[in-house]
Amino acid sequence: MRCVAPTGRVVQPVSYPRGEVRASDFRVVTVEVRPPGPGEVLVRNTWTSVDAALRLRLRERAPKGYFPAFLLEEPMDGIMTVGEVVESRADGFAPGDTVWHASGWRDYALVKAGTPALGGVGTLTKVDARLAPPQAHLGPLGANGLTAYAGLFHVAGLREGDVVWVSAAAGAVGSLVAQLAKIGGHRVIGSAGSDDKVRHLVADLGVDAAFNYKNGPLPDLLREAAPDGIDVYFDNVGGDHLEAALGALRRAGRVAICGMISEYGAQEPPPGPGNLMLAVTKGLTIRGFRAGEHTDLLPEMRRRMGAWLHEGRIRHRESVVDGLAQAPAALAALLRGENTGKTLVRIEDVPHRERQLPIRPPAALLN
Ligand SMILES: NC(=O)c1ccc[n+]([C@@H]2O[C@H](COP(=O)([O-])OP(=O)(O)OC[C@H]3O[C@@H](n4cnc5c(N)ncnc54)[C@H](OP(=O)(O)O)[C@@H]3O)[C@@H](O)[C@H]2O)c1
Repeated sequence: MRCVAPTGRVVQPVSYPRGEVRASDFRVVTVEVRPPGPGEVLVRNTWTSVDAALRLRLRERAPKGYFPAFLLEEPMDGIMTVGEVVESRADGFAPGDTVWHASGWRDYALVKAGTPALGGVGTLTKVDARLAPPQAHLGPLGANGLTAYAGLFHVAGLREGDVVWVSAAAGAVGSLVAQLAKIGGHRVIGSAGSDDKVRHLVADLGVDAAFNYKNGPLPDLLREAAPDGIDVYFDNVGGDHLEAALGALRRAGRVAICGMISEYGAQEPPPGPGNLMLAVTKGLTIRGFRAGEHTDLLPEMRRRMGAWLHEGRIRHRESVVDGLAQAPAALAALLRGENTGKTLVRIEDVPHRERQLPIRPPAALLN
């Protein structure tokens, strides 16, 4: 006999934020979760991701070529999440499996196996819960790990001896980039928005120099940290940070544009860097990328990142918020820079109207 489908909760946007994201831009609705159909899997989500780029989809129109804007009063599809399979009608998935998928910000998800999601990064995938706690598959062992790994090693065109600057270096992607560059033997400069984060970058993540970009003119702070200039800029911020990087890059320097968080809430298109001509005069390479273009690197990234985590060469912090309804507040906090490392929502196991299948607690770290 099959299980009775539970009642679930879903976070939905009700208005597009103007400026700051507010809790009142969202609602939590209760929905009936139907049983899985052929090829589908019912997942009880345990952790869901909070990402800077969600802000880009919380508006009437997302940037051209990007994932579509979230629809008002609809579930927000395309948010990385891990959970446990409750019921499966798809080959290769069984109750109790830990999986990742992209139907986040809800406590139950019906996911079609084999259907590409989030450009391939969020397609339903079984993860090895013995390797690390489940939520690590949303951070260093998941899409953030892939973004950092692909962006640094395959997009930035790293060369031996390169001096690397990473912005938003205390965040989910940035903290991985900084540490990967250190593993690669580079001199690494990290920037962040508080003195505490700067201390964390140096003391915990081992960067060579770090600065708080709020403590003075950015070009001066960067010059102090890298008096001879930089060779690679890993851009998470855009705007004034990109402009400062263009000024500091040495001849034939490279920029990997990962994101531009300083511009995500802008009501009007922000102006481009005023010194772009330096790309001509210095022979710079500026290359944007998306993790989804590099899913072929996932197995390699997970194997290497898993080993580095195990050896303690990659350190990983989480900013955890408890309770599905807190997801919007967690996003607002991230956009204000209140997070360090990966921002996550731990989804509580609320009592449901009916649930007949036992659900195991999240797997423990085995190493
Ligand atoms: N290309 C891809 O495939 C891909 C995939 C994932 C993420 N991304 C991009 O990677 C970047 C980081 O994303 P994440 O999810 O890992 O977030 P995150 O770094 O964990 O959090 C975002 C951080 O950005 C900083 N920030 C916010 N507003 C800022 C501003 N105006 N100027 C400078 N810094 C600001 C804040 O830290 P401070 O305290 O330092 O200000 C905040 O903690 C984003 O640009 C995102 O879009 C790209």
